[in-house]
Amino acid sequence: MTMMTRVEDNIPAAHTGVIAKEETAFELIGSEQDIDTSVFGRPGATVTGFKPGHFRVPQIKAYYHFPADLLEDFCAFWEVNDGGEGFLLFGDAGVGKTSFAEQFAARINAPFYEVVGDRDRVLDDWICTIHMTNDGAKPVLGPLALAVKFGGILCINEGDKLRPAARHGLHSILEGMPLVIPQLGNKGVIRPHPYFRLVMTGNSGGYGDQSGMYQDSNRFDLATLDRFVKRRLDYLPANIEEQVILQAYEEFPEELAPMVVKLANKVREQFRNGTWACTFSQRAVLRFVRWIIIHADKKDATGTHCGLARALDLALTEGLDEDVRKAIHEHAKDVFGNWWTLGAANV
Ligand SMILES: Nc1ncnc2c1ncn2[C@@H]1O[C@H](COP(=O)(O)OP(=O)(O)OP(=O)(O)O)[C@@H](O)[C@H]1O
Ligand SMILES: [Mg+2]
Repeated sequence: MTMMTRVEDNIPAAHTGVIAKEETAFELIGSEQDIDTSVFGRPGATVTGFKPGHFRVPQIKAYYHFPADLLEDFCAFWEVNDGGEGFLLFGDAGVGKTSFAEQFAARINAPFYEVVGDRDRVLDDWICTIHMTNDGAKPVLGPLALAVKFGGILCINEGDKLRPAARHGLHSILEGMPLVIPQLGNKGVIRPHPYFRLVMTGNSGGYGDQSGMYQDSNRFDLATLDRFVKRRLDYLPANIEEQVILQAYEEFPEELAPMVVKLANKVREQFRNGTWACTFSQRAVLRFVRWIIIHADKKDATGTHCGLARALDLALTEGLDEDVRKAIHEHAKDVFGNWWTLGAANV
């Protein structure tokens, strides 16, 4: 008797419904429905989505800004995928790769499954794993199998860290072949849902690290690269990032938003040219803003305002090489001018 048959034999009948929670959810939301593209802040067309209510649909971040041309490409990828493609979104740390796919799913009520691709990952972890319970061995479908079966987006973050074997395992899935799950016996052939899409994010575009900043990135072989649509994502244009800040934090003083973005863009520029070993992600920008608000009237022992410096440390610079930290703080002082010592409460 092989190990596989033993596992199958041990699966109690009730556990062939290990995906019951997902099945019930899908019965509730029913099939696809047209969604107006105004959900992306860009009215005038429709896109296929689902009825609301599935527990795997991410929360909407109302302040999220969809870059127009990326949205256009992604909608086309979402609607028709007969070419066996995945979508590779790449770019610097914190440019918004994952949140693009997440917010796309959120707006059209699509289930969103997020996994991390590390070098120890084998694909089986995302397909089906066997869990021991008091009733015996129980197969539990992983995020890849669930997305293939029920539709939605599987987002593999840091996909460029995966080893080739794991990437190669994705090829047949990308080509639309049924997923075979031996642990489920004759119930284990899953045909892909018409709205199953695979998104991969990474700092490099599949050709390995060309910047020297992401040395952990692996080069994809051409067979894998050939199965992906590729899009580079960059930080938002300054005026849009300012709007995002003010939408995310309505109470933030309007005058300070351009200064925050100016500082962030300076750090990003120095990161790109290799001068400073850290970048200012969009995530860290919002964190900086939040801590500026929290420390709006914070003073040090001498009565001098120190809230902005403290917020900058908390958001980005604490723990950096001291020279780099000082350089960033010096630059911040210039950018914020009087506000550096007056504080956000006095704007
Ligand atoms: N277009 C955007 N509009 C509004 N906020 C954004 C946008 N892009 C990114 N952000 C903010 O930045 C945060 C980080 O973005 P995200 O996690 O998507 O970046 P990433 O590129 O996937 O980062 P990493 O390289 O660390 O994986 C988001 O949670 C969001 O708050
Ligand atoms: Mg990410």
